[in-house]
Amino acid sequence: MNITIVGPGAIGCLWAHHLSTHGHRVSLWGRENLSHKTIQLDAQAPLRLPYNQLPALQEADLLLVTVKAWQVEDALTPLLDNIDHDCIVMLMHNGMGTADWLQDVLPNNPLVLATTTHGALRISSSHFEHTGTGFTHFGGINTAGKQCAFLQDVFNHALPEALWCDNIEQALWNKLAINCAINPLTAKYSVRNGELAQKEYHPQLVCVVEEVHQVMEAEGIAIELNTLQSKVDDVVRLTANNLSSMQQDISHQRRSEIDYITGYLLARARAHQLELPYNQALYKDIQRLEKTFEQN
Ligand SMILES: NC(=O)c1ccc[n+]([C@@H]2O[C@H](COP(=O)([O-])OP(=O)(O)OC[C@H]3O[C@@H](n4cnc5c(N)ncnc54)[C@H](OP(=O)(O)O)[C@@H]3O)[C@@H](O)[C@H]2O)c1
Repeated sequence: MNITIVGPGAIGCLWAHHLSTHGHRVSLWGRENLSHKTIQLDAQAPLRLPYNQLPALQEADLLLVTVKAWQVEDALTPLLDNIDHDCIVMLMHNGMGTADWLQDVLPNNPLVLATTTHGALRISSSHFEHTGTGFTHFGGINTAGKQCAFLQDVFNHALPEALWCDNIEQALWNKLAINCAINPLTAKYSVRNGELAQKEYHPQLVCVVEEVHQVMEAEGIAIELNTLQSKVDDVVRLTANNLSSMQQDISHQRRSEIDYITGYLLARARAHQLELPYNQALYKDIQRLEKTFEQN
């Protein structure tokens, strides 16, 4: 396939490398002033890929958008006139809340949302590390997007495990629940994921998950509270040494994805007239921290 990756950061270059080495024609679209960019993943041979080349964008069969949730509109808006009507547009980011905008601006394209638990790190502007293997779930959000199940073979061949979901909402909500539970607490207390199992933090984690579960029920996402709590506890245990992306964003004084994680949860709660005091308080805490950087 002709694939353009918009937002070639850690996750974008992880996929760029694997899709390119598995036979696809990959180009990059980012914010640097370049015509080609050499990227290197781990100690593998560097790849030189076209960068910001309009013909490659116009001929893309698939646009894989790997910017952060709050960067999606800014990244895609200038490109809209050059995206072919048949081009599949796939957003791969943490958090939720970008789908409505995407459907408004590209109603006729096949639209796909994705979530991944692979870990990737940017070591320098061109060197990336695959820090942990994981799963990628994706699925269509409109009629044309729902017909793209063949992408499972494309992505699974390049970087397993990739699973096509007929109901991507369920997978996105499961990931959102984990992010709502782990990210703001680790960012607020500046701790590694595993510390949330300690008695100092775990009761707060439980309260956050209970509230997330109320919203999931109201949204029609089927999952038992005990199952959700166990999933969150499993991630805390299995990623005990990891620093969550929000913890890293806040500690490096960067904007986090709170608006698309807890912010999205609270918006859906309001739609169902639900009050979520624990999540509301955490949202305010993270916003307050972000405001202190803006003032610096
Ligand atoms: N990294 C992980 O391990 C991981 C794991 C699971 C999920 N995720 C999720 O994946 C998403 C991407 O994360 P990441 O770690 O890959 O972030 P990242 O390294 O910051 O990559 C984002 C890339 O998008 C580029 N970008 C921003 N605005 C743009 C614009 N207007 N036009 C074109 N490019 C633009 C950035 O360019 P600049 O370099 O100029 O800023 C950067 O290269 C996030 O939602 C994250 O939560 C990440």
